[in-house]
Amino acid sequence: MSDAPMGGLFPPVRGGLRGSLRPPGDKSVSHRAVLMGAVNDGPVIVTGFLRSADTMATVAAVRALGVQVDDHDDRLVVHGGGWEGLQEPEDVIDVANSGTLLRLLPGLIAPQDFLCILTGDASIRRRPMGRVLEPLAAMGVTVAGRRGDSLPPVAVRGGALQGVEYHMPVVSAQVKSAILLAGLRASGQTTVVEQAASRDHTERMIRYGGGRVEREGAAEGPGVIRVWPLERLTMGSLTIPADFSSAAFFLTAALLVPGSEISVRDVGLNPTRTGLLRVVERMGGRVRVEQEDVSGPEPVGTVTAGWSELQATDVDAAEVPSLIDELPLFLLAAARAEGVSRLRGAAELRAKESDRLQAMAALLRALGIRVAEYPDGMDVEGEPDGWEGGEVESRADHRLAMVGAIAGAASRRGVRVDDLECVNVSYPGFVDALAGLGGEMVVSGSGRREVGG
Ligand code: S3P
Repeated sequence: MSDAPMGGLFPPVRGGLRGSLRPPGDKSVSHRAVLMGAVNDGPVIVTGFLRSADTMATVAAVRALGVQVDDHDDRLVVHGGGWEGLQEPEDVIDVANSGTLLRLLPGLIAPQDFLCILTGDASIRRRPMGRVLEPLAAMGVTVAGRRGDSLPPVAVRGGALQGVEYHMPVVSAQVKSAILLAGLRASGQTTVVEQAASRDHTERMIRYGGGRVEREGAAEGPGVIRVWPLERLTMGSLTIPADFSSAAFFLTAALLVPGSEISVRDVGLNPTRTGLLRVVERMGGRVRVEQEDVSGPEPVGTVTAGWSELQATDVDAAEVPSLIDELPLFLLAAARAEGVSRLRGAAELRAKESDRLQAMAALLRALGIRVAEYPDGMDVEGEPDGWEGGEVESRADHRLAMVGAIAGAASRRGVRVDDLECVNVSYPGFVDALAGLGGEMVVSGSGRREVGG
């Protein structure tokens, strides 16, 4: 992993961004590969693993639970010893900035009769945990957390589990995954009801490992997911596709910077993740998808996007989960579209690494774009002529920092992003990847420009 510089100016890219790249491995799938690998029956060879601050926190966490992980150059070997192979950690587990680790780990260790305490950085200690602790408590786990069991640090002591039927009050793949992982060791069937389809990487990996999990419901609408107890998880090997959420920065950049055409290769095309493509196509964006293969449990392919004139569109609650992490990019694209775009049903954005609705409203206003912020969304008055530039704050949120960089590439005078270190959470090497396509970053302050794979 390399360090991104502290802050920098992203000048306009004249002549466009052009080329092809393979972004690093999928963050969601990488977390799951290590967590589920830890309880697998025997070693799991993981190829294409993302080495980032978040996913290395997951490697450290399973090591603290007594699982050996060998880190070779291009692959990771997780020496799973079944559920019996986990041991009580000697110390508090530090999830760093990772919400996925914070939410999934309690579900994974729910059947264990030992104490596990989880905490993380300042942003993590503001992330809601009642949504995970409540269903796990209903299954038989003893739970505790700050502020009435709602915030980290949290403590869990597992044990014998009963299957439950749980109606999630929020749409969250992290919550769903915690319950499904616990459900693998519960007595009887466990059912999770979701108001809209959230990413299904956990379900795919359970099936890949020989387990039984079924979903009933519409592709983007509400659904009922059932999981059955599983004696042994048997995955063997796992190939992780490039992260669609990382690719999305460059695909959006291609749409926004005149003269651009960018292809992303070997990228995950799980439909529960690729809502941004459907939304930008509706906006008139030039996007081409070639599905090539199924990489382990996940579909993969190549996506190409090119500069386009964009029309406003609306995104509502049913669609939100399929682009939850790309909504800041949608809002940036909306800022260059003809007409007023409306986002609703996205209150969850306030509970991410930062309050992304408030942060995006501030970012777009800093570019001179007119927006109206609502409790669960935003109206963006598009400016087809684009923006001059400005100074934006990343608020220690990796996705905000990268949105700022793309806003700069698409600007007339450049955008200064105050802090880029957080980019390492999901995309070490982002600045180099941008440079490889013809973009540029000018270092500000005393930061180093030391970036790379
Ligand atoms: C993730 C699920 C999403 C997403 C996060 C990763 C996952 O969170 O925002 O970046 O890996 O399951 P929620 O499920 O809480 O919406």
